[in-house]
Amino acid sequence: MRVLGIETSCDETAAAVVCDEAPAGERILGEAILSQHEEHRPYQGIVPEIAARSHLQHVDRLVAEAMEKAGVGFADLDGIAATGGPGLIGGVIVGVMSAKAMALVHDLPFLAVNHLAGHALTARLTDDLDFPYLLLLVSGGHTQLLIVEGVDAFVRLGTTVDDAVGEAYDKSAKMLGLGYPGGPAMEAAAARGTTGAFNLPRPMLGRPGCHFSFSGLKTAVRRQAESIAADQIDDLCASFEQAVGEVVADRCQKAIGEFRDRHPEGSTLVVAGGVAANKTLRRYLQETVDDTDMRLIAPPPKLCTDNGAMIAWAGLERLRLGLTDKLDFKPLPRWPLDPDAVPAHGAGVKA
Ligand code: KG4
Ligand code: ZN
Repeated sequence: MRVLGIETSCDETAAAVVCDEAPAGERILGEAILSQHEEHRPYQGIVPEIAARSHLQHVDRLVAEAMEKAGVGFADLDGIAATGGPGLIGGVIVGVMSAKAMALVHDLPFLAVNHLAGHALTARLTDDLDFPYLLLLVSGGHTQLLIVEGVDAFVRLGTTVDDAVGEAYDKSAKMLGLGYPGGPAMEAAAARGTTGAFNLPRPMLGRPGCHFSFSGLKTAVRRQAESIAADQIDDLCASFEQAVGEVVADRCQKAIGEFRDRHPEGSTLVVAGGVAANKTLRRYLQETVDDTDMRLIAPPPKLCTDNGAMIAWAGLERLRLGLTDKLDFKPLPRWPLDPDAVPAHGAGVKA
């Protein structure tokens, strides 16, 4: 099967064509991506109105580019997928409307993909991986531990009760004047700094369960940012990454226990989402699984941050199961992967 996927839920306009007849690692036939970082940088954060307009301006060209690179026309496709949510609604509408129009004109099935499922299933695009597996999903809007039991079956073990880890990166970077997007900027600064130079809190460390909290860490960075000298910023970033790494490793250890109670045969921890591109976090996760008989799968960094291939692949997996969507599908600003999850105490509006 061959599926075109469109991603427009945040600040990347992306399209890709994937197939399932090639071995893992060779399934992306063509891809195109345009990051809006330059457009949002003056505001040090994403401006939803600017994002939506930019998606609208570029989506057609990026679809054409991805299909040209893949060497396919619409007649070669089996379906068209777009992110249907969650995300910035203006952008999601652009992608969904484009995909619906192409599906209608070319008489192809339309697939509305949950953006988080796109991140969650990426490891099955890049590696031969069976269900179930444990997933750490770390992005700008979400920080969750989930058991992935099927294409459309997720059990949430933990979530953040306040900020997402990517949000903590972005807001801390903004306070330190490192610019936007904050994650890569903080990672670069941390690489020059010394860990342990600042004593930052480790929220939730050692607590029962698998929930996260990052707002206290962000507040601690703000306090330090008010008083430190410019030449201490790298050390503060290194200390921040260390605190994040220790907390995430602790939460993953707990989740591995809960995962194995439910699935004794389960053997894989997958990390996904934009923050999964972070090398320090990957090192902490590798050390965590090395203490167990589990293995870690971390997709290549460019497939951790938002991209079209993850949406195309999740669409393909849905198409194989006959899970197509009607053309009256309405974009969803909120769309939890596990609708039955009990809300975490203190959790805000994030799914
Ligand atoms: O998955 P993603 O591309 O978009 C969302 O769905 O949110 O994730 C974006 C987030 C941002 O918070 C960004 O700062 C963070 O991922 N990020 C990183 C790195 N690259 C991106 N955080 C830490 N280190 C990185 N190298
Ligand atoms: Zn994402």
